[in-house]
Amino acid sequence: MDIFKSQESNVQCYANNFPVVFESAKGCWMTDVDGKRYLDFLAGAGSLNYGHNNPTLKKALIEYIEKDGITHGLDMYTEAKARFLEVFKNHILAPRGLDYKFQFTGPTGTNAVEAAMKLARKVTGRSNIVSFTNGFHGCTYGALAVTGNHHHRGGGGIPVNNSVTRIPYDGYANVDGLTLFETMLNDASSGLTGGDKPAAVLLEVVQGEGGLNAASNEWLQRLQTICKAHDILVIVDDIQAGCGRTGTFFSFEPSGINPDIVTLSKSIGGYGLPMAVVLLKPELDQWAPGEHNGTFRGNNHAFVTAAEAIRTIG
Ligand SMILES: Cc1ncc(COP(=O)(O)O)c(C=O)c1O
Repeated sequence: MDIFKSQESNVQCYANNFPVVFESAKGCWMTDVDGKRYLDFLAGAGSLNYGHNNPTLKKALIEYIEKDGITHGLDMYTEAKARFLEVFKNHILAPRGLDYKFQFTGPTGTNAVEAAMKLARKVTGRSNIVSFTNGFHGCTYGALAVTGNHHHRGGGGIPVNNSVTRIPYDGYANVDGLTLFETMLNDASSGLTGGDKPAAVLLEVVQGEGGLNAASNEWLQRLQTICKAHDILVIVDDIQAGCGRTGTFFSFEPSGINPDIVTLSKSIGGYGLPMAVVLLKPELDQWAPGEHNGTFRGNNHAFVTAAEAIRTIG
């Protein structure tokens, strides 16, 4: 344990509650160096929907590595990426009547959130983004601006409010946040009109880190109606609630809403490998080549396990 205490930054946190050294993991079980087993309720913070070292995914990954498949290909075309795109299109998008293009961002969720916010601002030419009480979207500066939690927001040393308006989430303090939102959008003195009119709303359908609050279908539908009427984009951050965690692949499916932009990460890679995606409606694809980049856009090992997870498990 000394090596961790002396070498690792204080920012590390989960081991404070689990002061043991883990050695292996299978399914929902983790085993420490003394052979003690732990039932893994953390599940990689939602990244291990298919369990640790899922045998089907492991086999596909080992075969891919054995044949010297591409590991790092920047954002170039690879066989693994083609296969992932085909599987996702055919198994997830087409059956749901959804039409999105894919933007592969840097490998963590917060990278996808940053890209989604940038795109919404670029496409609309507006800067303000509406987020919700108790929302959590990541720890880079842009994502922190739309995150509510003061512990995380306080970590950066500068104010993180850049062009964000926060309104009450469904059920928050029994306030009707959507009536408030709609009224403000129609009031020239509210501070939410003219140049301050939002580019987008950014929300989780089921808030994860903010305390497992679920928005009702009616609330989501009404939010979409308000946004459509005011030409405001709807971004669903499905990084934690997506990939089947609410029973459907996308958390928004039961509501029937059709977000303009969706962010995915965590379990999309299938095997716990880092991967993040922004799904965007084709007409929003107004990026110039390389305008938003990153060295690790498209983890080919994750493409392999992601495609295999969707193809075999769903
Ligand atoms: C809804 C949501 N968005 C974004 C993030 C940030 O993802 P990451 O920690 O991979 O940057 C998280 C992480 O918990 C999340 O729950």
